[in-house]
Amino acid sequence: MGKAPQTAQAPAPKGPDLTVTIAGVLFKNPVIAASGTFGYGREYAGLLDISRLGGICTKGLTLHPRPGNGGPRLHETPGGLLNSIGLENPGIPAFIEQELPALRGLGPVVIANLSGSTVEEYVQGAALLNGTAIDMIELNISCPNVKAGGMAFGLDPEAAAAVTAPVRRAAPDKPLMVKLSPNAPDLAAVARACVNAGADALSLVNTFKALAIDIRRRRPVFDNISAGLSGPAIKPIALRMVWELYEALGQPGAPVPAVPLVGMGGIARAEDALEFLLAGARAVQVGSATFARPPAMIEIIDGIAAHMTAMGFKRLEELCLRR
Ligand SMILES: Cc1cc2nc3c(=O)[nH]c(=O)nc-3n(C[C@H](O)[C@H](O)[C@H](O)COP(=O)(O)O)c2cc1C
Repeated sequence: MGKAPQTAQAPAPKGPDLTVTIAGVLFKNPVIAASGTFGYGREYAGLLDISRLGGICTKGLTLHPRPGNGGPRLHETPGGLLNSIGLENPGIPAFIEQELPALRGLGPVVIANLSGSTVEEYVQGAALLNGTAIDMIELNISCPNVKAGGMAFGLDPEAAAAVTAPVRRAAPDKPLMVKLSPNAPDLAAVARACVNAGADALSLVNTFKALAIDIRRRRPVFDNISAGLSGPAIKPIALRMVWELYEALGQPGAPVPAVPLVGMGGIARAEDALEFLLAGARAVQVGSATFARPPAMIEIIDGIAAHMTAMGFKRLEELCLRR
């Protein structure tokens, strides 16, 4: 059989430019795997092309290893997911040695999600991370599933500043994004306190404190009583919070500088992500949707690009009115 004739290949049409810069870090697109829902990346190898993601946030890391909470850890609700993981992780030294080299090699921006029970623990963790190849720290002051620390720091402006400022000093080489709690009575006040204490970016929201009761056992499903609610059920509330925080921060004459917002909460489709980008988020994180559909983030990236092409936008910043 003769050789098939060579046809001249037309160059692939160039898609829209999805790049975004957050606190000086360049992301190839605005879709980031949310902390606690993507392990350290390698767990999803073979299920999606991880190299296409804009970024990966690690599972919440603490200075020392944590076994996590006992009892049930996940419980599905209509349109949502309750979790009570309790920050199970191998500790920062083990993360640096055993997980970071492979995670670094996957391609996306690497964001270390830092947690702790005391300010001192956060600070020591930040100092260790400062000397590594991570791109950014996401300071988690919003975990509702631990008895000490976690969300306690994120509910009150003074407590939030009291951990953000020393972490900022302990990790001078790393951009610092603070992850806010939707359970804070005054989210804008906490956000301003974090920015004044040195945050370069803010991410929101972590999970909503919530409850499920086992009617046969006649007691709460979770040993910790409450748990954190995520998934599509929280999306409209999370979106409203991003919109309002964008309004509250960085207005002309405001006492704090404008910082980029990274939005999340119930994003499952490209349309959801676009809503967050139009509400004022510069990028988005996707969590629970990955459990239901591991390739969800790839579909979201492609869907954003398709929407931009259909609307005639060449660059993401042309699409977003609030930036
Ligand atoms: C099982 C599970 C574990 C999580 N662990 C963390 C964590 O370790 N650190 C953190 O900052 N957020 C954690 N989160 C919160 C997510 O990163 C995200 O803020 C939240 O789930 C809302 O996004 P989603 O509705 O897309 O899931 C966790 C969420 C889930 C569902």
